[in-house]
Amino acid sequence: MGPIGVFDSGYGGLTILQDLRNKLPEYDYLYLGDNARAPYGTRSFDVVYEFTYQAVRELFDRGCHLVILACNTASAKALRTIQQKDLPLLAPEKRVLGVIRPSAEVIGSISKTGHVGVLATEGTVRSNSYFLELQKFSPETVIEQHACPMWVPLIENDRHTSEAGKMFIKEDLDQLLDKDSQIDTILLGCTHFPILKEFIESYLPANIQIVSQGAIVADGLDDYLKRHPEMQRCCSKNSNIDFLTSENVEIFNKKATQFFNSPVNASHVNLGLKFK
Ligand code: DGL
Repeated sequence: MGPIGVFDSGYGGLTILQDLRNKLPEYDYLYLGDNARAPYGTRSFDVVYEFTYQAVRELFDRGCHLVILACNTASAKALRTIQQKDLPLLAPEKRVLGVIRPSAEVIGSISKTGHVGVLATEGTVRSNSYFLELQKFSPETVIEQHACPMWVPLIENDRHTSEAGKMFIKEDLDQLLDKDSQIDTILLGCTHFPILKEFIESYLPANIQIVSQGAIVADGLDDYLKRHPEMQRCCSKNSNIDFLTSENVEIFNKKATQFFNSPVNASHVNLGLKFK
């Protein structure tokens, strides 16, 4: 048995972990933030795959049987290759799940107009994963995706509340709505973005619903574990949460509390060297 691994390029996945803990508090979790190499959003397919693969290996080595890529960029660019190519060779009994599919499964049903917007990193938008997944679950839903390449760097550097930061955020929101004025539901398709939810809601008209992924992913995991008792049996249940970061531990502990509502005491991990 081992903890459920939760991976993100940096702090964003903590917004998912927060909801996983609320929904499924009995499980143990091991969070890994690759802060030293974040952001992933503008990196190439190959690089995101390589970094994500290293993180998954690390979490497997530390006893995880199930890993959630709590990062849309990694889910868009690395998940399929890891599931189809790597897992069968590396650990056929282990599982890696992403955040795009559970979000695409429900987002169409939330909208009343049938017009949905997705805000995400450049990598997620360019992969077109949201459009392709939504086609499977809700093909009649009209989707507009908009890349916000400045948002993650602003958040990681604590500049998202500055006047200049807010200007970038408003500009991107305006650009999304300019593409389709019938949008009534906006999915925050990057796990860093929930930290901006309040500001976004205050800026946009009240009829537009802003949806974060945390609760959706937690419901999805709950459902998955019920359907897979063999995996549930591999996940330890002591309500423990541990944190790893590839960057400075003190900085991570301090900043993590903005995303995760409890004190964080992380350990350092070096991802790059081990799996070269
Ligand atoms: N939090 C990640 C996501 O959901 C990506 C942020 C980044 O590293 O660019 O896409």
